[in-house]
Amino acid sequence: MAIIIDGKKTSSDMRGEIRERTLKFKEENGFLPGLAVIIVGEDPASQVYVRNKKKDCDEVGFNSEVIALPENTEEKELLALIDTLNKREDIHGILVQLPLPKHLDSEIVIAAIDPEKDVDAFSYVNVGKITVGNYSFLPCTPAGVMELLKRYNIEVAGKNCVVVGRSNIVGKPMALLLLHANGTVTVAHSRTQNLADVTRNADILVSAVGKADFITGDMIKEGAVVIDVGMNKNKEGKLTGDVDYESCFAKASAITPVPGGVGPMTRVMLLENTLTAAQNKIKK
Ligand code: GUN
Repeated sequence: MAIIIDGKKTSSDMRGEIRERTLKFKEENGFLPGLAVIIVGEDPASQVYVRNKKKDCDEVGFNSEVIALPENTEEKELLALIDTLNKREDIHGILVQLPLPKHLDSEIVIAAIDPEKDVDAFSYVNVGKITVGNYSFLPCTPAGVMELLKRYNIEVAGKNCVVVGRSNIVGKPMALLLLHANGTVTVAHSRTQNLADVTRNADILVSAVGKADFITGDMIKEGAVVIDVGMNKNKEGKLTGDVDYESCFAKASAITPVPGGVGPMTRVMLLENTLTAAQNKIKK
């Protein structure tokens, strides 16, 4: 029997805190944090994510703009827009929703964002800062996981942490953050041999694979903390994580559900980063 790590409640608490901090920020500085979100094309999942980002900004009292560009937008047009947003005083955070249409190179596009406004923390500068442990922003999903661990008093130092998945957005930064928190970190991936032997060694297991029911109860240690970053659709079209919840719940000491675990935390960390970006402007 596991404790359920409730990302929905935690993120809601955090939005309340951010709302308070935003009111205070406005009183002290006379302006609100501003986020610009760019979406290119009509991907339905991306449209939902972007709508939610706008809703979250409204809830905490930020200014926000969604800029929707057509699928056939040329790279130079997108780069020109980013350049304009980089220069705007009222915009503190810029997010380009991924994936971009195939003809656009996301590396070039992300590199064009002013690192001080890169609230995804995807740019080379921010990735480098995270690597050395001296950063303003953390990528939202791994940051959300660390916040859950902190708020549930789950100690990372000295623990065996296994991250399954090595994406630039989740797996790699997740491993770094656990390392910064003094975990003993292993990164497993699609070429890992005897994966279950690796995952069974985890005191803290983070799965970011993108396959429904990939982690089963027999693959985890008794008492493990299981963090499910997966966002998959199962055969019935229902949102489901990477973790077979029933079998892992029975063995874990704590587990994140899907939905209601890491997903809402990713959303709230974007607000946290945007407020940080606005605060950093004041410090200059
Ligand atoms: N698409 C899926 N997740 C993300 C994210 O965290 N940031 C951006 N920009 N796009 C995404």
